Amino acid sequence: MAKMEVKTSLLDNMIGVGDMVLLEPLNEETFINNLKKRFDHSEIYTYIGSVVISVNPYRSLPIYSPEKVEEYRNRNFYELSPHIFALSDEAYRSLRDQDKDQCILITGESGAGKTEASKLVMSYVAAVCGKGAEVNQVKEQLLQSNPVLEAFGNAKTVRNDNSSRFGKYMDIEFDFKGDPLGGVISNYLLEKSRVVKQPRGERNFHVFYQLLSGASEELLNKLKLERDFSKYNYLSLDSAKVNGVDDAANFRTVRNAMQIVGFMDHEAESVLAVVAAVLKLGNIEFKPESRVNGLDESKIKDKNELKEICELTGIDQSVLERAFSFRTVEAKQEKVSTTLNVAQAYYARDALAKNLYSRLFSWLVNRINESIKAQTKVRKKVMGVLDIYGFEIFENADNSFEQFIINYCNEKLQQIFIELTLKEEQEEYIREDIEWTHIDYFNNAIICDLIENNTNGILAMLDEECLRPGTVTDETFLEKLNQVCATHQHFESRMSKCSRFLNDTSLPHSCFRIQHYAGKVLYQVEGFVDKNNDLLYRDLSQAMWKASHALIKSLFPEGNPAKINLKRPPTAGSQFKASVATLMKNLQTKNPNYIRCIKPNDKKAAHIFTEALVCHQIRYLGLLENVRVRRAGYAFRQAYEPCLERYKMLCKQTWPHWKGPARSGVEVLFNELEIPVEEYSFGRSKIFIRNPRTLFKLEDLRKQRLEDLATLIQKIYRGWKCRTHFLLMKKSQIVIAAWYRRYAQQKRYQQTKSSALVIQSYIRGWKARKILRELKHQKRCKEAVTTIAAYWHGTQARRELKRLKEEARRKHAVAVIWAYWLGLKVRREYRKFFRANAGKKIYEFTLQRIVQKYFLEMKNKMPSLSPIDKNWPSRPYLFLDSTHKELKRIFHLWRCKKYRDQFTDQQKLIYEEKLEASELFKDKKALYPSSVGQPFQGAYLEINKNPKYKKLKDAIEEKIIIAEVVNKINRANGKSTSRIFLLTNNNLLLADQKSGQIKSEVPLVDVTKVSMSSQNDGFFAVHLKEGSEAASKGDFLFSSDHLIEMATKLYRTTLSQTKQKLNIEISDEFLVQFRQDKVCVKFIQGNQKNGSVPTCKRKNNRLLEVAVP
Ligand SMILES: Nc1ncnc2c1ncn2[C@@H]1O[C@H](COP(=O)(O)OP(=O)(O)OP(=O)(O)O)[C@@H](O)[C@H]1O
Ligand SMILES: [Mg+2]
Repeated sequence: MAKMEVKTSLLDNMIGVGDMVLLEPLNEETFINNLKKRFDHSEIYTYIGSVVISVNPYRSLPIYSPEKVEEYRNRNFYELSPHIFALSDEAYRSLRDQDKDQCILITGESGAGKTEASKLVMSYVAAVCGKGAEVNQVKEQLLQSNPVLEAFGNAKTVRNDNSSRFGKYMDIEFDFKGDPLGGVISNYLLEKSRVVKQPRGERNFHVFYQLLSGASEELLNKLKLERDFSKYNYLSLDSAKVNGVDDAANFRTVRNAMQIVGFMDHEAESVLAVVAAVLKLGNIEFKPESRVNGLDESKIKDKNELKEICELTGIDQSVLERAFSFRTVEAKQEKVSTTLNVAQAYYARDALAKNLYSRLFSWLVNRINESIKAQTKVRKKVMGVLDIYGFEIFENADNSFEQFIINYCNEKLQQIFIELTLKEEQEEYIREDIEWTHIDYFNNAIICDLIENNTNGILAMLDEECLRPGTVTDETFLEKLNQVCATHQHFESRMSKCSRFLNDTSLPHSCFRIQHYAGKVLYQVEGFVDKNNDLLYRDLSQAMWKASHALIKSLFPEGNPAKINLKRPPTAGSQFKASVATLMKNLQTKNPNYIRCIKPNDKKAAHIFTEALVCHQIRYLGLLENVRVRRAGYAFRQAYEPCLERYKMLCKQTWPHWKGPARSGVEVLFNELEIPVEEYSFGRSKIFIRNPRTLFKLEDLRKQRLEDLATLIQKIYRGWKCRTHFLLMKKSQIVIAAWYRRYAQQKRYQQTKSSALVIQSYIRGWKARKILRELKHQKRCKEAVTTIAAYWHGTQARRELKRLKEEARRKHAVAVIWAYWLGLKVRREYRKFFRANAGKKIYEFTLQRIVQKYFLEMKNKMPSLSPIDKNWPSRPYLFLDSTHKELKRIFHLWRCKKYRDQFTDQQKLIYEEKLEASELFKDKKALYPSSVGQPFQGAYLEINKNPKYKKLKDAIEEKIIIAEVVNKINRANGKSTSRIFLLTNNNLLLADQKSGQIKSEVPLVDVTKVSMSSQNDGFFAVHLKEGSEAASKGDFLFSSDHLIEMATKLYRTTLSQTKQKLNIEISDEFLVQFRQDKVCVKFIQGNQKNGSVPTCKRKNNRLLEVAVP
């Protein structure tokens, strides 16, 4: 919900009052109560006009998120709840848009949150200003300068774990667009005494602890340091560790920040070397040594530390040792050297350590400035952020020179605050054309004068005392003050000539008291002179200048003997006065913005608001005074437009819209409300309200009116809502009624319709049944008629039939009787002829009839025309037996002829060949039956078509009868080789199967015989004529799958060519001529084991055995 609400004014949902100017009644109590109330509700920011009071919450609040930044961006200052972002935005926008340089003055006591506030301002400005790689780098460098300066300039104190021990003023420079260009940092008065001594419960500067905890072993060795804090006299041990602070991690952050800011590695290391040297200086100890001349002298106890420092800094050990033992005073070309006693030696050592550290700090600031300085020469707009210690008031007269100086600075800041606020107020009155009324306020110029007056101011007195020859002590200084300032109304001292305080026991003798604008402060004079002198013996600065470590050398330029300056260096007081004067001059040229930080408790704890503590701060920050100044003329002012917008509902003429100019609208409004004229004034653009009461009255009226308006709106809205609801219901009711009626009518209609249908169907049914009945009756009548007629006709017909039958029978009887009578008559007449011829004639006739019947029946029972069909009808009569057989034979012959007649010549030849084969082999060779079904093809090998055998084909001119591959049995071992077997009209040829080359050629006349077994094998021998040329190698023995065909064709060809029958011998044992020898080929019944193929084996010289399975 809270997120949803839109704020248009600071006055909306205020907790207490957001602006103290509106506090009524105004006194310390109401002021504190208001702060407390707001603090309890986590509202840590409250305004006094344009001044922001910030109460340290000591816990992280969710009010700095990027969303918050966006919320406050480009909004008017009084539009939203008080926030540091509102002030930052206002400052940034008037810098960017109105070209006014700005300064943001952040004051408050230690731990009040100044440094945090300054960082918040910077981060807000960084978030809202321009973006881009270059701009972002500048922003990053500006932001990262903080961790570096905090490491070297901040320390844990009793009041603040991260207390800034220096004042800081930073100018951030912008270009005309509002993009950051760079910055310049000034530092004020580093609390260098902390380097050598820290109060109880406090620490030295963070960097020492960070270095020892966070540096690597290697770096520590290089810097000749040890990690143990207890090894170093300058480090207090009782609070070396700070809760929630990780020094080692912070060391890394600082190194990283140094890198971002632009420190070279070697620079960062030199800086750390100086830090190490300072730490080690603390460990140098002295012992007394008496001299003959009675003067005290000191000596370094253990030179080891000195040696290491010298190694680290590159200083000649003897030079540094001497500088710790002697002091040379030069006056008018005379040099006088005196020895230092132990106390002086320690003083010299600490002075050196403090100087070394504070100069290093100033060098760091300058080095950072070098990095972050704007790179262009264009005109810049500047926003200065001042984070400086607020008033410091210690109890029990513990305030010393530092507090005096700090309080002086705050006195000056208050002065410009008053000046600028009044000036601004006055300018606004002039701008708005409002009559200026005198404002009565306390002007603290008189106090500033007491301190800084060049002739009799306290600082001038101190300087005078320090420069005076003769013995100078703090007491002589106080005496002097007592003389010079005794009459000043803000100076108080027990010893002053003025007897006012003679009996004031709260004022010790060694102290003086100043009535600052924020309260009285008691200063202890002890140490004033010394601190103001800030003495470093020349011998030491000269020794430092001689260092080969470039950074250390550069820190002590006065040590250069060539530039010896006998004039005393300016005192700390005058230096500070000068820098404060510069700062004030700088601030006066800018538009000021104030952030007053308040610390709510001493415990650094959240949620605790110690009223006494806050009251004290409110007093010395002069906040009530601030409110009074702001309220002196008019407490509240507002531009006409937002004022009219806010209160227009209070008057009929202006509500809801005012047509004319806003100013006249406000006039009408104020007249109508009868606000007394002395309570307000009309400026050019703003209305000025004198008393907050008037404003609150307006607010109350507005609240009341808003409630009325809300009720009105509610009323109208409710009315409207009810009416709309009613209309909607009415409309709905009509629609529902219409629909219901329609539905009811529909239902009734459907009911009537279905009833009508039922009645209709009943009537129709009844009518139909009636017709049906009639029809049935008619039909039955018709049927009855028909039946009757039929019966009648039947009777008639039967009667007629009976009559006809009777008549026919009678006629038949007549005919039969007539036939019988005729037969009788004929038989009587022909009896004599019939007996002589009838028997023979009847027999012949019967026989004739039987034969005729036999043939006619045979015609129908004839078997098929296939010659192999064995069917023949059975014989019907025994006497026809021979005829029947003869008829069967004739029929068979006839059908065979018929079958033969359809043969072509080729088929005829085949059958001739088959016949020949049958004659030759039937019942002689067991292979024959399987050949009957195989057609004889002759040319199994198509030599013509195979290009491989082209040569073979060309060599043969005759017609080829057989061309087939056969196995030629090698007579020597019984193995077989494939050969092409060719039979032509005159020759038998054998050729190689692969190449087609002719191996043997035998004229058919030389073939004498063919032998083969009677068994189921394809072996056959071709015997050649003895003495013929072909027979020189002997007879051939082949095996072929087509033995029957081949033998038949060989037989037939030989017969047709030689007119001689070829001898075909079928025997299971025959002789074959092998060259000179005759070998017996014997066929035996072989073993089934060898498979179904016959095997041939040479048994001995004379026997070749063929095993046939
Ligand atoms: N706005 C804030 N929100 C949360 N915590 C805060 C805020 N302001 C300050 N603090 C807390 O208070 C502590 C002290 O604040 P800071 O260091 O700013 O004080 P200071 O006024 O600068 O003191 P010194 O004068 O000692 O430097 C911070 O470390 C932080 O813990
Ligand atoms: Mg600080």
